[in-house]
Amino acid sequence: MTDDKPDASLKDSPTLKRKAEQLELENRIKKAMEGISHKIAVISGKGGVGKTTVSANIAMRLALAGSKTGCLDVDITGPNLHKLLGVNTNPAIDPETRLIVPVTGPGGIKIMSMAFLLDSDDTPVIWRGPMKMGVIREFLGNVQWGALDYLVIDLPPGTGDEVLDIMQLVKPLDGIVLVSTSQELSLTSVAKTATMAGKMDVRILGVIENMSTYTCEQCQHTVRLFGEEAGVEQLAGRFNIPFLGSIPLEPGRMQQLVPAATASGKETPASRAIDGIFATLKKQVERKT
Ligand SMILES: Nc1ncnc2c1ncn2[C@@H]1O[C@H](COP(=O)(O)OP(=O)(O)OP(=O)(O)O)[C@@H](O)[C@H]1O
Ligand SMILES: [Mg+2]
Repeated sequence: MTDDKPDASLKDSPTLKRKAEQLELENRIKKAMEGISHKIAVISGKGGVGKTTVSANIAMRLALAGSKTGCLDVDITGPNLHKLLGVNTNPAIDPETRLIVPVTGPGGIKIMSMAFLLDSDDTPVIWRGPMKMGVIREFLGNVQWGALDYLVIDLPPGTGDEVLDIMQLVKPLDGIVLVSTSQELSLTSVAKTATMAGKMDVRILGVIENMSTYTCEQCQHTVRLFGEEAGVEQLAGRFNIPFLGSIPLEPGRMQQLVPAATASGKETPASRAIDGIFATLKKQVERKT
């Protein structure tokens, strides 16, 4: 046996090869994240409270304001951000870099979602945590994001693997935006997410109350949907985090509430509310502390 043989076989060891690949991917993630000026993750404790709606609307407003914007759907098992942005195409692979080219959406938004890799919107993703974490790493490191001003990350509900991964891998993360209704169950879970962010030293850019009120189109009477108490605003006070504003319930189909993109092409109370939230959020991001 010559001296160099054991060395050669060591390099071929599957464990070392895997480690080397992981290290390479981590370096690519670091490099990709360094090319993006601002990264914002949209989080809630509870499902169905409006994270994806907020993510799509913030991304649209950023793009319309002239920022180079990316939008990443980290909801691996229930991706639907692409629907709100009105795209569903297979992403290409850059032949030179071998990286995935994100799909271009309205306003030139670069979008990546698990949905683009599935046969149809009805195809289920039945994966356990480690596989989901693998794909999140791929989305961060093996997607050709290029130089962006903003990356908006839409997360699934809860404080699980995906949230943990984003908080750990997206560096530097400007912060998270919490979305909640004023229902007690939503408030309890968003409080847990706020506590998690504190423990992980992640900045909370602010909290948004969604589906706050409903105004009857016939009599114009406005009611608070989930109790008279402004629960989300109170929670903001309790955790000492900025309250970004309330979005009323928009009757009918609520998608991108950029006025030009609504069915009527006109401003609505919800689109105006999101405009205000967007302006406050942007200031928060630029404040840097
Ligand atoms: N202010 C609103 N007015 C009317 N409908 C709304 C409003 N906000 C969200 N919706 C609707 O509520 C549903 C849930 O919203 P969305 O998908 O944004 O929530 P989510 O928090 O991302 O859900 P999930 O936890 O499943 O990812 C969608 O059908 C959306 O169109
Ligand atoms: Mg969602």
